[in-house]
Amino acid sequence: MLDLLLTMDPLTVGLGVLGLLLLLKLICTPRNSPPGPIGYPVIGNFGMFTIANRTATFKKLRRKYGDVFSLRLGSCNMVVINGYDTLREAFIKHGDTLSERPNDIVFNLLSSNGKGIVASTGEFWKSTRTFSLGVLREFGFGKRSLESKVQEEIAIFLDILADKNGEAFYLGAIAQTSISNIICSIAFGQRYDHDEEEFKNLLHMLDQAFVLTSKANIANFFPFLRYLPGDLTHLKATLENMGEIQSYLQNQIDQHRATFDEENVRDFIDAFLKEEIVQGKSDVLCDENLKIILTNLYIAGTETTATTIKWAILLLIHNPHVQTKLRKEIEDVVGFGRLPSMNDKPEMVYTEACIHELLRMGNIAPVSLLHGVKHDTKLNGHTLHKGDFLIPNLDSVMFDESLFEDPQTFNPERFIGDDGKLNGKERNVLAFSLGRRVCFGESLARMEIFLFLTSLVQRFKLLPEDEENLPTLEPVVTLTNAPHEYKFKAVKLK
Ligand code: HEM
Repeated sequence: MLDLLLTMDPLTVGLGVLGLLLLLKLICTPRNSPPGPIGYPVIGNFGMFTIANRTATFKKLRRKYGDVFSLRLGSCNMVVINGYDTLREAFIKHGDTLSERPNDIVFNLLSSNGKGIVASTGEFWKSTRTFSLGVLREFGFGKRSLESKVQEEIAIFLDILADKNGEAFYLGAIAQTSISNIICSIAFGQRYDHDEEEFKNLLHMLDQAFVLTSKANIANFFPFLRYLPGDLTHLKATLENMGEIQSYLQNQIDQHRATFDEENVRDFIDAFLKEEIVQGKSDVLCDENLKIILTNLYIAGTETTATTIKWAILLLIHNPHVQTKLRKEIEDVVGFGRLPSMNDKPEMVYTEACIHELLRMGNIAPVSLLHGVKHDTKLNGHTLHKGDFLIPNLDSVMFDESLFEDPQTFNPERFIGDDGKLNGKERNVLAFSLGRRVCFGESLARMEIFLFLTSLVQRFKLLPEDEENLPTLEPVVTLTNAPHEYKFKAVKLK
């Protein structure tokens, strides 16, 4: 056979291989799947892009194949969904079939087989999400009563910045600790000092969780790799790291159970335990589910908002004129005598516009989280099949020139109409995703961002370490887009 191939001219061999690949694609692709590039046998389109350049690759493929295209990565058929209208069509119009999670090996292993909110699916997810939201509302989630807790953390955050005396410093874990304290006090009634070693370690594991999980994803595409010796997929390291976070949270549950008093419900854990007594144990009301819900809240509730604050400072350093305008609005509405509050928000249109703009440019969750398909569903004339992994490509909206003129420029005014009010374009900023899976913590995140940003700009002038050499705006890409660590100065205003 090899002899025969060697005697053939290279063009014939090349055409033969191409024909074989096309045939394989035809055989392996389910009927009417969205179009996409031809891949190699077994690996499919693997190797066509890296995590760091995935959104640039998706942009090119969208130009060629349209808003819905597919890629084969090992054993997974991935469908990338692009553009505001198509994302709405998929996740709002077809929300009943496209709000599942796919059979994601990594997420399933990290969440005791699909427990909690983030990785669960179907009726179990609905009950867990609804129940958790109901309980969190009792503790102020989505309500003004949470504001004082956020302000307490902000006061400490501002003191730490003031202690830097205007010298350049890395924000490091300061924002993370402050933000994490808010969700930790709601979830298990505890806040931590910024220099507490145990908490520093927990935050380090949280950072690692994002880095390791994005690497371990390869186990979804080539499941056999996880059975090879060593830890080629980083899955073992990912599970170990998550195991440590979860055992810390299990410890919190055990301590709450030991000191539980039905008459004095202190936090989310107590409220969950009380419900377990009232309704009896079930799949949803059990320790295993509680542990994973806490893990979800701790991880999702810390990293994303802390990263947004880091983007906010970086973008304000790059755009001092925006900082000045923001401060002027704060001065007009709040003054300098008290901390800003949520009551001020309706009067602060420029600030709101800034927040939408920094969520757009920070583009923290560029590809959101994977969605699954409940049963075969038509989208833009193609069929999405049960078993497909859907990627809601939020990045395709954030920098879409038809929605945002000159999208690479930080320009809060783009959201303000001639009447001085928000002009509705802010609804195109899909930072929290959309549809039934929309971010669970959006209201808390928006409150935190508003209060942190306004308090920071009210008290400090934010400056770069070196005006001639501004820190890069290129992101560090893992599951999220985060800024590279950078030094800045927070100069206290008189
Ligand atoms: C700026 C801050 C935040 C951003 C940009 C953000 C973004 C997102 C995105 C894009 C998703 C995926 C939605 C989907 O599957 O389509 C998500 C899900 C989620 N977020 Fe957030 N998030 C933020 C803050 C928070 C906070 C503060 C919490 C918790 C207190 C939180 C908890 C969750 C949870 C539990 C989910 C899973 C929802 C589900 O699967 O039903 N997030 N978030």
